[in-house]
Amino acid sequence: MPVRIVKNCMLFVLSLSWKFWCVVQAHRLSSPPHIVFIVADDLGWNDVSWHNPDIVTPNLERLARDGIILNQSYVQPVCTPSRTAFMTGYFPFHVGRQNHVLHPLEPTGVPLKFTLLPEKLRDYGYSSHAIGKWHLGYCNWSYTPTYRGFDSFFGFYSGSEDYFTHTRGQKDFLYFKEGTEWQWLNSNTGLDFRQGTSPATNYSGKYSTHVFARIMTNLLSTLDPSVPHFFYLPFQAVHGPLQVPKKYMRFYENIKDKSRKIFSGMVTALDEAVGKIVASLKKYGFYRNSVIVFVTDNGGQVQSGGNNWPLRGNKGTLWEGGTRGPSFVHSRLLEETGYISNKLVHAVDWYPTFVDIAGGLPDNTMDGVSQWTTLRTNGPEVRNEFVYNIFDTGRKPPKDAIRVGNFKLIRGFPGDPSGWIPPPSVHFTHASAQQCYVRRKGYEEEIRLFNIQDDPTERYNLVHVLPDRVQKMIHRLEEHRATMVPADDPPDNDHGNPKFWNGIFSPGWCEAH
Ligand SMILES: *[C@@H]1O[C@H](CO)[C@@H](O)[C@H](O)[C@H]1NC(C)=O
Ligand SMILES: *[C@@H]1O[C@H](CO)[C@@H](O)[C@H](O)[C@H]1NC(C)=O
Ligand SMILES: *[C@@H]1O[C@H](CO)[C@@H](O)[C@H](O)[C@H]1NC(C)=O
Repeated sequence: MPVRIVKNCMLFVLSLSWKFWCVVQAHRLSSPPHIVFIVADDLGWNDVSWHNPDIVTPNLERLARDGIILNQSYVQPVCTPSRTAFMTGYFPFHVGRQNHVLHPLEPTGVPLKFTLLPEKLRDYGYSSHAIGKWHLGYCNWSYTPTYRGFDSFFGFYSGSEDYFTHTRGQKDFLYFKEGTEWQWLNSNTGLDFRQGTSPATNYSGKYSTHVFARIMTNLLSTLDPSVPHFFYLPFQAVHGPLQVPKKYMRFYENIKDKSRKIFSGMVTALDEAVGKIVASLKKYGFYRNSVIVFVTDNGGQVQSGGNNWPLRGNKGTLWEGGTRGPSFVHSRLLEETGYISNKLVHAVDWYPTFVDIAGGLPDNTMDGVSQWTTLRTNGPEVRNEFVYNIFDTGRKPPKDAIRVGNFKLIRGFPGDPSGWIPPPSVHFTHASAQQCYVRRKGYEEEIRLFNIQDDPTERYNLVHVLPDRVQKMIHRLEEHRATMVPADDPPDNDHGNPKFWNGIFSPGWCEAH
């Protein structure tokens, strides 16, 4: 395209006004915006300062308020499914990744037939860089970031680990309660940290939030801002384990609960990292032509310091507390800023939105829709419906949920904790979270209908009030369910155990498909 423009320009080069037009057009067409996609991990609705003044996130809040706060931005209940949606543009129930997170020894990943976002952006001249947590499969090199479109990667492949040693166990972490704290079990059997494809063995003792910010600022200093870049920044923060350098806890003298205090410090460290990254975007000439998007991968994990108040439920549940996250867009390219948008946005929308920003055309077979024109111009809502999830449990009754307009219908057990859990500002007892466990006999058969506009905290079940709407929404869910791909959940395979790989979680022990 730029070549053709330049040729046309040559024809009109005698005319001064055309010359000016040519320069403007060539510039406009040759450099689409940089995309900076920041993903927090397990950051809950009530864990940012614009929802909760007890939390110290001045950098994030400034970006949010000077951009567009997305007040109805939805994700999946857990990590791998949300990241699948970000990277494919499809609901996880169309990918086979709808049921749970990938375990470290699970021999699979995101199917290779899906063109991941960075690979797609390559068509539009973008180079792409991922810094942070992958969690979309690593058992075969073909599943790993630098084989799926990223020009560079720095980070870890699995879902969680120690923030300082960058090691973890070969099984998923288990929580146990010691005094009032939750601890990790079995946390030190393998290193999971890489620079490109090589193990990064020299970062022990360095806090991952700091490391990732430093890697990003160093990277920016080496790149050319006149060509477009996609930066995917999925931070480890603020997932468990609860670890933070002490200095971040001094902001939270008022919080007595130790988990919440450490967790809040972790959020502030994340905020500081984002502040440093934005300062570097400015310093190295990227900022003016960039679109910064901030999301979380799922709701807060109450057992690990997070909080979703006043929303109902927790990470891992179909309640709003598990699926509605703090989010914003910040860019000098937005025509209107400084407002809170209640238009529906879902995790699947970022892929087509970024392709649109890059200059690509929409793919109408995709679940996601581009939000770009709406965001840029404060235009009309482009989404009226989304699927919270369709679980493939292999048995009846079904477990799924859908949103249509203001209404949300949930079938089956939405997940525990199911209550409304306030932040533990004085002294949080885990017993209070336990009280919110409402699972009981027959719960699986229940159906719930909420008007999220009027009742965002899901207190009034309208299932007997609006039976026609219930039938319509069940019908719609069944239509979606008919398109479901079976969940791809193979049993763990000990061939991936780091004891066979020099103590390092490594690819090379499964067939990619
Ligand atoms: C770790 O080693 C790599 C490769 O030699 C080097 O590029 C990097 O700067 C080192 N990082 C630290 C924190 O020492
Ligand atoms: C954002 O959403 C919350 C929860 O639904 C709602 O209470 C609040 O009024 C919304 N904010 C704005 C400005 O619309
Ligand atoms: C990775 O997957 C490809 C495609 O299925 C397969 O040919 C290759 O052998 C796998 N690698 C390993 C080390 O198993």
